[in-house]
Amino acid sequence: MSPSLNTDAKKTLLRKIPHGVFICGVAEGEVINGFTASWVTQGSFEPPLVVMAVRADSTSNGIIQRTGRFSLNVLAADQKDLAAVFFKPQKGIGGRFDAAPYNLGELGLPLLSDALGGVECELVGQVNHGDHTVFVGEVKTAQLNRDGVALELSATGWTYGG
Ligand SMILES: Cc1cc2nc3c(=O)[nH]c(=O)nc-3n(C[C@H](O)[C@H](O)[C@H](O)COP(=O)(O)O)c2cc1C
Repeated sequence: MSPSLNTDAKKTLLRKIPHGVFICGVAEGEVINGFTASWVTQGSFEPPLVVMAVRADSTSNGIIQRTGRFSLNVLAADQKDLAAVFFKPQKGIGGRFDAAPYNLGELGLPLLSDALGGVECELVGQVNHGDHTVFVGEVKTAQLNRDGVALELSATGWTYGG
């Protein structure tokens, strides 16, 4: 007998998984892009791995698959407005970066100057199953701009999950 999923219970429970709010950066040739990501966690100490799920139909998903790299910027607790910029539709690809100064790291990926900091990752694995791709990245560079309290999804009133 196949199991029956209680979808209401599933939604309530999955929304209790705590999440941060990050800006993922990607670059392909002259093109840069970034988007708000909350489905992010650490996956290994040694080597240092991070795991991130990215909408299969998003612009950035294709760029990550083609270039094999991405950055993750850690927002400060008072940067909810910046997170909103990075999930709203943009005029042209990369346009969201008009709202925030950045530099390119050693891997050529955007690192937001006003974030607490950011890491650059090389893709070491992925799972293509469902409406998001689960990417596993090995952390190759880390830039700490300042230490502080990070933005958490629970503090924003937004939901992404369930
Ligand atoms: C609170 C919040 C969290 C989000 N988390 C993710 C996420 O973890 N992964 C993802 O692919 N999209 C996430 N999104 C949606 C993307 O930010 C959004 O689809 C974005 O427009 C994708 O940009 P792109 O198409 O330019 O790559 C989230 C949106 C919100 C509002």
